[in-house]
Order: sequence, then C-alpha cells, then structure tokens
Amino acid sequence: MDLHDREAAVLFHTYKRLPLAVERGDGVYVYAQDGKRYLDMFGGLAVNALGYAHPRVVQAITAQAARYTHLSNYFLQEPQVRLAELLCRHSGYPRVFFANSGTETTEGAIKIARKWGSTRGKEDIVAFTNSFHGRTMGALSLMDRPKYRDGFGPFLGNCRVVEFNNPSAFATAVTEHTAAVFLEFIQGEGGVRPVSMEFAAALDALHTKFGFLIIADEIQSGAGRTGKFFGFQHYPVSPEIVTMAKPIGGGLPLGAILAREDVAGVLEPGMHGTTFGGNPVACAAGIAVLEEIDAHGLVAAAALRGARLKAGLDSIAADFPRRVREVRGFGLMLGLELDRPGDGAVDEMRNRGILINCTDATVLRFLPPLIIGDDHVDETVAALREVIAAYGR
Ligand SMILES: Cc1ncc(COP(=O)(O)O)c(C=O)c1O
Repeated sequence: MDLHDREAAVLFHTYKRLPLAVERGDGVYVYAQDGKRYLDMFGGLAVNALGYAHPRVVQAITAQAARYTHLSNYFLQEPQVRLAELLCRHSGYPRVFFANSGTETTEGAIKIARKWGSTRGKEDIVAFTNSFHGRTMGALSLMDRPKYRDGFGPFLGNCRVVEFNNPSAFATAVTEHTAAVFLEFIQGEGGVRPVSMEFAAALDALHTKFGFLIIADEIQSGAGRTGKFFGFQHYPVSPEIVTMAKPIGGGLPLGAILAREDVAGVLEPGMHGTTFGGNPVACAAGIAVLEEIDAHGLVAAAALRGARLKAGLDSIAADFPRRVREVRGFGLMLGLELDRPGDGAVDEMRNRGILINCTDATVLRFLPPLIIGDDHVDETVAALREVIAAYGR
C-alpha cells in the first residue's frame, strides 16, 4: 500500500490530496520521493513565507525546543513577549493576543467585538459574501458560501453577510447597533478579490459615522505578502483589530490578534485564553521570520517580485483575452481568473515542475514564498503561457 492508500484507510476524508509524495523542502523547492524537484509557487498556502527549512527558522526552533517546548500561560515566556514586541513594532498596534490558528483569531475577535459592544448597545456583526474567515462556528457565521456552511447551522445570531464591494448594500446594513465589520481587504480563498477603492471610502465614512470596529482579517495577506505589512494598508482605513496567522509561526501553528489599546482592554484576566496559544517554539520560529523579513527587506521584495509576476500575468492576459478573464491582487498575492475550471492548469503546471493552486473554481492563485527571485517568477510565467496557449486563442 502506498501512502495515499494508507491515508484513505485511516484519516477522515476531508482533504483532496495532490498526487505527489513530498520527501523534503528546501528554499523555494519541494523534492518528491521520486527525486523530482518542484518550484512551490503557493508556499503552504501563504504559511511558508521563508520557504522550506530556512536556516534561521530551523535554528530558532531547535534552540527553543531544547530549552522548553511548553510551559503553560501561567508563566511568562520570553519568546511570546519578543514576538509580540516585533509584531507591535511592525504593525503599529500596541497589544497582541496569541492563538494557534487563523480561525481561533476569528473567534477571539468576535468575542472582543461582542464584549466591546455589550456596554455600548452594539451587538451586530457585518461581514461579506465570498469571504473566508475559518471553519469554526463563529467564522462560518460570518460567511455565506454553501460549500462551507451547508448542514452546519444554526449559526451565531446577529451576524449579517452583505454583498462584497457593494457600498450601497453595506450602507443599508450598518447602524448604530453594529459592533463590528469583519473583512478581508483582499479575499484569498474567495478568488483573490481586492476591496474596491469606492467600497473602502464608504467603509471609512460609515466607520466614522457609526463608530463600529473594523476587523481586518490579514491571516493570508499579512506580514508583508502584499508589498505592505498589511493588505489593508493599500486603503485609507484604520481597523481597530487585525487578525494574523499563517506566516507568523514560521510553519508552526500560531495566530495573533492585534488591537488598539482601548479595544484590547475589554478583556480582563480569565475572560479569554488558550492552552497552546503563544507556544514558545512557534513564537521562536515567528521571531526568526520577522527578523529575516527585516534583515532582507522582504516586504519591499514582495512588492518588486509581485510587480514582475503581475506584469507577466498581465501580458498573458493581453495575449489570450478569451482565455483569461482578469488578473488581480497585490504583491505576491495574485490571482489569474480563467475562462474555465483551473484544476487542469494546476496539473499542467505541476507536470512542468511548478506548484500553483486553484481557488474559487476558476482562479489560479499565486502565493509564493517572499524569498523567490526574478528567475522563479520568469520561469512560472513562461510555463503558464505555454499551458494557456494550449487552450487556443
Ligand atoms: C483569510 C483567512 N482567514 C481565516 C483562515 C483560517 O485560518 P486557519 O485555517 O488557520 O484556521 C484562512 C485560511 O485559509 C484565511 O485565508
């Protein structure tokens, strides 16, 4: 029995696995058991910001594991404090709460919003169609897609999902009872769809008018991927709360809620917590990620490499206008929408030694490590051009 058969025999059937048995990863490449090398252009779905087996991350994990892998949150832990200091410095937010995953930060942010609103007569939460905030019940309450929700209700009350990028629908949905508005400024799973400037302006105006909290889900887009530390920084808005996960644990499970001082202050000791949140080994890996981002200017690099990749994808779109509907995104968070389901192109790219992902059925998604070079970008564009050319003009 090979690994696929063994998996099918014992694990829940919740994931569609790629037909690829990975032996190890190194930098921007993964190596299969048959020795074949693949350029990874979706980087653990935005987790592997420094690629695989980055020496600084490996060293940090090893050193911390030898000190202690767990203490419990009864104890002060240097790696937690240091990573929080780095996140505060990079983000401009003064307070951090650590969780273990993206969806847990969504749950924590919902709780903060409800608590904050409970003394202000504000208990409604507004979110948007096509978004993705996680798989737990609170997160699902902020989403609309049947694929994730069907059969799992009933969901949380006082949550309303309104049409994404529709300023007038949004204007009718928010009131003085709105506690929070949750959004991905660049929807990831939903097909790499950025918020429009028109919508951002409406959000900003209604934020000022009604005084609700803006909660930016930066789980996929955060930590420099879009060419700015946060995706929302491409817009004139000031969220009170930001949720992060994916890249900040260097490949280990870690999430973080960042908040303004007065908002963080609604949680007093004992009101919220987690056994594993802020695990010292995950935090040590996260410190290595942020230090490396700083040392090598990887946010600026994401903007530069991203512009090159976008120019390449745009040129394919210009040459094959009937095959490519749109190219979207910022920095190294880009999507190319095809005129057909994208799974075939993903397979064709893999046959050419390049791993990409397809989301929202027709959108080829690029989330490469921030350490990719121009040569990797050019190789990806050349391969994709061949794949799309084969569909005919
Ligand atoms: C924008 C966004 N929010 C939330 C999540 C959920 O994160 P996790 O899978 O770590 O729970 C994801 C995961 O893909 C995401 O992309």
